[in-house]
Amino acid sequence: MEAVIDIKVIKTEKSRISEVPFDNLPFGKYFTDHMLEVDYADGQWQKPVIRPFQPITIMPTNATLHYGQSIFEGIKAYINPEGKAGIFRPYDNFRRFNISADRMMMPAVPEEIFIEGMRQLIELDIKWIPRKGDHSMYIRPFMFATDNVIGVRPSSTYKFMILLSPTGPYYPKPVSIHVEEKYTRAAPGGIGFAKAAGNYASSLKAFAEANEKGYDQVLWTDAFQHKLVQEMGTMNVFFIIGNTAITPDLDGAILEGVTRDSVITILEELDLTVEERNLNIDEIIAADKAGTLKEAFGTGTAAVISPIKELAYKGVTVKLDPDSWTISPEVKRRLNAIQEGRSADVHGWMVPTAH
Ligand code: COI
Repeated sequence: MEAVIDIKVIKTEKSRISEVPFDNLPFGKYFTDHMLEVDYADGQWQKPVIRPFQPITIMPTNATLHYGQSIFEGIKAYINPEGKAGIFRPYDNFRRFNISADRMMMPAVPEEIFIEGMRQLIELDIKWIPRKGDHSMYIRPFMFATDNVIGVRPSSTYKFMILLSPTGPYYPKPVSIHVEEKYTRAAPGGIGFAKAAGNYASSLKAFAEANEKGYDQVLWTDAFQHKLVQEMGTMNVFFIIGNTAITPDLDGAILEGVTRDSVITILEELDLTVEERNLNIDEIIAADKAGTLKEAFGTGTAAVISPIKELAYKGVTVKLDPDSWTISPEVKRRLNAIQEGRSADVHGWMVPTAH
């Protein structure tokens, strides 16, 4: 297939790759030599440019700084055994990105900019993709308002960018979770389903308070009773009770995770029943008491599959032993094998970067 969009490419004069500690990569700290940038003005997208990674200049009046009209995505690319790069389900993230854009009154980004721009950018920085288990190239497309007026209204200009970050695991170890009862992440009619920057800003205080109490993350619950579990802010959540995997249904208050969807597919291949439905925290505690709560884990692009070792709710602590689990480790193994090109991509999830 030919490139369908003309992208101007300005290459760096000196690569920074030798400065990157590939043996000890944290999540999201290092960025590759190049980035993609394209502006929206006069009702249309301008010509995209791939240029050396560098600062961008904005005015203090930039609308995003004041009102947060900003959205993003998280996607990953991997190197297969033949040395070719593949992106995991980028069309699903592309679709979700434009759903977020619509909710935030931002223009849709065309497929040829989002997908083709990403492919060309990755091809240019392909050497930066880590070749190590649990490592990958994290892709961060994002868009923000660029009007310089501090009236509350949708901006008429925007910038869309893609950054690449060679990265290690987001949660290197099983996580301990505080079930949130005080703060709310999202309510019906809000922006919970959108990957909007503000959702993450508003979660920070709850995370900080949970961290102070010794937990890694919070599990968000519904805005009214704080009983129905939602997601964990950086991950969707699954509980395996008996032979059924249960995950909260997409009610508009949680993110429609691409990894969530992939995990549902793989769980069904493993002959588990998957239920997407309301899940009350009391049901989880009762299952633990009855000995039927087998596994609990978060799923996300950054997080992949992160086991939950502890869940605290109203003075009750559910303790789990991820070392003894069989189901989610097998899901993760199958998912990684597809992503890294070590097993057949029967679902057509991988998109090659090269044409
Ligand atoms: C992702 O999993 O890609 C996310 O966007 C979570 C994140 C905020 C690190």
